[in-house]
Amino acid sequence: MKRKILAGNWKMNLDHLSGAALAKEICAGVDAARSACEVVLIPPFTTLPAVAGAVRGSAVKTGAQDLYCEDEGAYTGEIAGGMLRALGCAYVLVGHSERRHTIGESNALVTRKLRAALRNGLIPILCVGELLAERESRKAVDIVASQVRESCEGLEGEEFSRVVVAYEPVWAIGTGRTATPEDASDMHGVIRIIAKELFGTAAAEHLPILYGGSAKPETAPALLAEPEIDGLLVGGASLKASSFLGMMPR
Ligand code: PGA
Repeated sequence: MKRKILAGNWKMNLDHLSGAALAKEICAGVDAARSACEVVLIPPFTTLPAVAGAVRGSAVKTGAQDLYCEDEGAYTGEIAGGMLRALGCAYVLVGHSERRHTIGESNALVTRKLRAALRNGLIPILCVGELLAERESRKAVDIVASQVRESCEGLEGEEFSRVVVAYEPVWAIGTGRTATPEDASDMHGVIRIIAKELFGTAAAEHLPILYGGSAKPETAPALLAEPEIDGLLVGGASLKASSFLGMMPR
């Protein structure tokens, strides 16, 4: 049995004071539940040091929402993987749909960021997912498959063994419209087929694939019951300890 992952993407919410308070509440809940799942908090950059302090000594891990593809230099406003490692970050989101579609990140840049994460000892959570128009025109599988293929092609097997993928259909993010467990599971199956093509059966089976997009305490159990779904990447519902803890797989 693979260990499930519950990751909370706080997006651009919670400063270092409110973030540390929420992190402490979540740690208390996770430790009390002796959770067998990996719980990851992904706050904004400036909130990260306070959250790293709040989770110290608990089972809860931290992650960042982005990183730059270079390791240092004249890149005003950017944050390097090594800086995140120095804070004790274990994970980093790469290619979140808001970065792809609101900020305009290309697949090529996402690919470079994925490599930067791996090079710096971070576990990248590679986010992929189709737009509503792409789903309606039956292009979803092709889009997601090419996002995975383009980002992972050329990685060494050892590097790929450290990657986590999150399938987040863009039409489900922040809309209140969750993908059905069947739709999510089908797309996770597609992602696993691409992983198998690129890295072989064992690597594909080992790959954790999270679902994200309006996941809530009410929808989490059915999603997590799918054998193809290895965890959840949660946005809105991760901003309150009660709803986030209510999604922990049992
Ligand atoms: P949501 O966000 O749960 O608010 O839809 C998920 C995400 O963007 O990671």
